[in-house]
Amino acid sequence: MQHRTLGTTGPRVSALGLGAMGMSALYGEADRAESIATIHAALDAGVTLIDTGDFYGMGHNELLIGEALRTAGEPARAKALTSVKFGALRDPDGGWSGYDGRPAAVKNFAAYSLQRLGVDHIDIYRIARVDPDVPIEETVGAIAELVQAGHVRHIGLSEVGADTLRRAAAVAPISDLQIEYSLISRGIEDRILPTARELGIGVTAYGVLSRGLISGHFERDRQLGAGDFRGMSPRFQGENLQRNLDLVDALRKVAEGKGASVAQTAIAWVLAQGEDIVPLVGARRRDRLTEALGALDLTLDAADLAAIEEAVPAGAAAGARYPDSQMAHLDSER
Ligand SMILES: NC(=O)c1ccc[n+]([C@@H]2O[C@H](COP(=O)([O-])OP(=O)(O)OC[C@H]3O[C@@H](n4cnc5c(N)ncnc54)[C@H](OP(=O)(O)O)[C@@H]3O)[C@@H](O)[C@H]2O)c1
Repeated sequence: MQHRTLGTTGPRVSALGLGAMGMSALYGEADRAESIATIHAALDAGVTLIDTGDFYGMGHNELLIGEALRTAGEPARAKALTSVKFGALRDPDGGWSGYDGRPAAVKNFAAYSLQRLGVDHIDIYRIARVDPDVPIEETVGAIAELVQAGHVRHIGLSEVGADTLRRAAAVAPISDLQIEYSLISRGIEDRILPTARELGIGVTAYGVLSRGLISGHFERDRQLGAGDFRGMSPRFQGENLQRNLDLVDALRKVAEGKGASVAQTAIAWVLAQGEDIVPLVGARRRDRLTEALGALDLTLDAADLAAIEEAVPAGAAAGARYPDSQMAHLDSER
């Protein structure tokens, strides 16, 4: 397994991380036994970074990871690092009701996450979205106190813009910014990525397959179930979907020329954007995981990167990456 270091103060982690969200929520039905087998296979393959959120399935995802860690073999389990997001508020019907970054709430969230995961510390802890009513300094300050107390090792951020990165970094060392970054989501390149680099903050990139859209496996006529995020995502609607899948067809030609799959090419492109970037892949099955890990063996030279750029030019995606109501919560989009 290749490794990368998250920022100047963060942990050394596997060059690919596993995001477990889809094992509990948002991407349709998931198979519990296969989910746990996938986490075990990832750990056995040397993946050390497992990403979750306490609100993914209202605790379901953390309980699942906790079970997978408890039943994993050594030494893989001892090397596992947990990256946990908190702050998103849910209701009993699964609705979303805002964000809470107040210091007392941060500590409350952490106490429950430690219990559900069955660990004595969380490796990277971050608020999922900035609470508009609480200065980021207070939220980060509360995590810094959790670090002091030994409950958390590193502080991360999620979907924040350059100004918030600076404000947070002035309070305490930040290991990484978790943010969407892929061939069709390149918004971080102008200001956010350069600022993260200036501040010595790493990036854990999510959506590298754009939630399956640019994985090469998403069929043009796929029906999405109730509660599937993609059913509301502008990029998966009607004409937008068809145009985005045209981009995937162009990418497929480049991938075939490299003897790689579309997903591997999309992941390898993110890996090639800098040693400070660690893609989180949302594999929910062992076969998908195996495919994703294959990206680590795919080297893209300048000619390959140019061919990919021609197939999927920056800004070519049709549709925003979130529905309007959710875009409004993204500090990174201000
Ligand atoms: N900070 C944030 O705001 C935020 C937001 C979203 C996600 N995340 C994190 O990022 C993680 C990754 O999620 P994502 O949405 O970014 O996932 P992604 O990797 O862009 O997409 C995952 C989806 O792609 C499909 N897929 C097809 N081939 C695949 C392959 N070879 N490997 C992996 N997936 C493949 C899978 O669908 P099938 O299983 O149906 O094939 C899966 O549901 C999440 O688990 C979560 O931890 C963070």
